[in-house]
Amino acid sequence: MSGTDTERMEHTQMVKPETLDDLIKILHQIFESDNVNIEEVQNIMEAYESKPQEWMKFAKFDQYRYTRNLVDEGNGKFNLMILCWGEGHGSSIHDHADSHCFLKLLQGQLKETLFEWPDGKSHGDMLQKSQHILQENQCAYINDSIGLHRVENVSHTECAASLHLYSPPFQQCQTFDQRTGHKNTVKMTFWSKFGKRTPFETTISQENN
Ligand SMILES: [Fe+2]
Repeated sequence: MSGTDTERMEHTQMVKPETLDDLIKILHQIFESDNVNIEEVQNIMEAYESKPQEWMKFAKFDQYRYTRNLVDEGNGKFNLMILCWGEGHGSSIHDHADSHCFLKLLQGQLKETLFEWPDGKSHGDMLQKSQHILQENQCAYINDSIGLHRVENVSHTECAASLHLYSPPFQQCQTFDQRTGHKNTVKMTFWSKFGKRTPFETTISQENN
């Protein structure tokens, strides 16, 4: 190992989670503290090498739209969930209710498009800041001060699955019309919790994040 590698490991105190359970344990420890180190969480989530057999029981797909599947409630500090994206499924443009949002690719690819917050004065299309493709095992981060985003599985042949951590947890967010910047408050629900389908919630499900 080179000197720079050693330095970097000391800096971030990198622990490599060997399994999803391992990752969840480490996340619980990190979030016991009230000061979240964004880079530390991002590094830990990225360091976990996705193994489908570890998360398949949570990954419940729907034919028509992507699903949110609760994995862990993080002692009230965070919600950890797996989003399952069928071919061509995508989110609307949304905010993150003043929470931290970490998004790690478990399988496939997702396109993330970042937007500026509409200023309320300008009309017409929302301002697009950047766009990139998230690859397997990569972990992206966003919060409201960074901007808004839309997430899409643009593939027409491959599904995708992503692991999301939101801290603090939230139940509603705002979605935005790309053409006008007009916003709506939407309540978010789970397609499944801890591997069990929650059908009673689907009728009021409006929007995912
Ligand atoms: Fe999001």
